[in-house]
Amino acid sequence: MGGRDATMVLLDENGIRCDGRKVDEPRRIMIKAGGLKNADGSAYIEFGDNKILVGVFGPRDVHPKHMSNTDTGILRVRYHMEPFSVGERKNPAPSRREIEISKVIKEALEPAVMLDKFPRTAVDVFIEVLQADGGTRCAALTAASVALADAGIPMRDMVAAIAAGKVADTVILDVNNEEDQAGQADMPIGYMPNLEKITLLQLDGVLTPDEYKKCVQVGVDGCKIVYDLQKKALQEKYFGDGGD
Ligand code: CDP
Repeated sequence: MGGRDATMVLLDENGIRCDGRKVDEPRRIMIKAGGLKNADGSAYIEFGDNKILVGVFGPRDVHPKHMSNTDTGILRVRYHMEPFSVGERKNPAPSRREIEISKVIKEALEPAVMLDKFPRTAVDVFIEVLQADGGTRCAALTAASVALADAGIPMRDMVAAIAAGKVADTVILDVNNEEDQAGQADMPIGYMPNLEKITLLQLDGVLTPDEYKKCVQVGVDGCKIVYDLQKKALQEKYFGDGGD
């Protein structure tokens, strides 16, 4: 963040971004529900050049037992990047960044999942980032919601996620890797459209109060686009159509 590559044109005179998109245009998003036969639920997402696979297991027994909660189920999330998922090989050991992202995705999913229906059990969410290109936490959170629904876990709503941000003093939707590196702000947002509740909001960079409000609005509107694609993916798997 903060103009590391001053030569890159992030927004040209016609308001077109470095990858040809308009300011309010998301990348191409493709979501598939299911696909892993050994998981209770799964999903695959392509979000621009991000490629992410999610497997959900549970509700199942917790080992060691003392980790379980007699009043409620627990959600465990592991976000993992393949060493080949980024340009410079990533060390396979869990990084601080992966631990942080696992935690924020878990906290973003918890308000959606009815864990109180499964006391003493755990629901495990495994996220494998096969290819990363900026915005993996949003893409992973989006796919994890679909995988949880695919596993039949009762949910209040699905969490849809996308980042808003700022490049060349302009608020944009869906920040890619170049914009994340060289832009002015990146704000990942997770949102439950039916309940109208934000469950993830992070901000890397500096925004004025007006830009902050605009980013939240642009991000929430973007989540609604993502939400429709999540529902379509589930409809395609269970009813054989996209619901059109
Ligand atoms: O992926 P997300 O935007 O949620 O998280 P980030 O920490 O802001 O990372 C932004 C991007 O940096 C990732 O999506 C990857 O494309 C890239 N990255 C990388 O090239 N090497 C790493 N070890 C970690 C991230």
